[in-house]
Amino acid sequence: MTQTADQHRPADEPPAFPMPRACPFTPPARYAELRAKEPVSRAVLKVNGKPAWLVSTYEGLKKVLGDSRVSANLKLPGYPLQVPVPEELLQSVPLTFLSMDQPEHTVQRRLLAPEFSLRRMRALRPGIQQIVDERIDAMLAAGGPLDLVGALALPVPSLVICRLLGVPYEDHPRFEHWAGQIMNQQISDAERGLAHYELDQYVDQLVTAKESEPGDDMISRLIAANRAEPSVEHADIVSMARLMLVTGHETTANMIALGTLALLEHPEQLAALRAEPELLPKAVEELLRFFSISDSGTARVALEDIELDGVTIRAGEGILPLNNSANHDESVFPDPDTLDIRREARSHLAFGYGIHQCIGQNLARIELEIVYETLFRRIPELRLAVPVSGLTFKDDAIVYGMYELPVTW
Ligand code: HEM
Repeated sequence: MTQTADQHRPADEPPAFPMPRACPFTPPARYAELRAKEPVSRAVLKVNGKPAWLVSTYEGLKKVLGDSRVSANLKLPGYPLQVPVPEELLQSVPLTFLSMDQPEHTVQRRLLAPEFSLRRMRALRPGIQQIVDERIDAMLAAGGPLDLVGALALPVPSLVICRLLGVPYEDHPRFEHWAGQIMNQQISDAERGLAHYELDQYVDQLVTAKESEPGDDMISRLIAANRAEPSVEHADIVSMARLMLVTGHETTANMIALGTLALLEHPEQLAALRAEPELLPKAVEELLRFFSISDSGTARVALEDIELDGVTIRAGEGILPLNNSANHDESVFPDPDTLDIRREARSHLAFGYGIHQCIGQNLARIELEIVYETLFRRIPELRLAVPVSGLTFKDDAIVYGMYELPVTW
């Protein structure tokens, strides 16, 4: 016998979502309870008081994200938006392919996929190494203490994406400015909105310029591939380029900062990594699993009634598959709250699952490998400039992360 949302009577009131973390290194305590007792459970979104289903187990997450009866379309009623967006604005902005369903999603993803092949990503290594080295040169020249987010974590992904997309070198400072503003919580919504707007305008002009004067970069190749076999419009290429900037930037920046912090706070793990540098790829997977920064970033809405673990999710109801909970599912990752860089963590779901699984995951892995290796090699005495208790974590959002990480050496 299954339950519906109306009949579903959990022992406690549905928790407000997102839930607070007691410690920056562990998921909210309630996740473990949910996995054990109520793997598909009700929650109330803090942002607007609307209900949504939480899916907390590893298998449950794979089932939902692999199911073609769920939609990623954030304009559909019932989609569990986690940021306040006025309805008119929401309906007026075009969808990126992150929020499209098949078959529209497939058209854009297919055009972009060759750009993210492992071969292409590996070829970026020397360029990424150069970017990281230059940033660390600047850190060493400035001397500590300094904020690692501003000095390294934000600029590296921003410069990498610029290079990938073919943003002219002289425009990089403007890009970094917009990227910093978009992530800055100290400024007003209007100021952040302006940064979004200016970035949009810039990307549109960049694509237009490359339509007449192509270079050796991703945007130019997308334009050429689309000319050879037309499948999308100019506006779609602008939207794809814009999506790369947003999705590839804040996520990687937060993983650089959090991963560095975790290694500093777990000196035995850092020592193991130094003693056995070949552990680096495993360490990156484990850090991705451990933090699962895009916890509920894979929100969906049911298109039909779906039965999951004895619960019926009705058509039109919102679903939040919790990556962070799935990646701490003890049936898949024993002793999940322990950071263990020797663990086989590669099957984690930090990059999502199914048709929307992160297209930039190989790029993210390479960036993280290069940053952690280079940072701890070139600044072996790196340490926190303040106690962990003095740090602020970005908890109430889709992407878990840090605004600032004061370090010294
Ligand atoms: C540590 C870094 C990263 C994390 C944790 C991450 C996480 C994710 C997750 C969880 C999804 C799935 C969203 C969903 O199912 O709705 C996703 C999708 C995506 N990511 Fe990433 N990402 C990272 C880095 C990047 C980078 C570097 C890029 C590109 C330069 C990128 C581009 C994208 C795009 C375009 C999608 C949408 C794919 C689709 O809808 O088919 N990401 N990412």
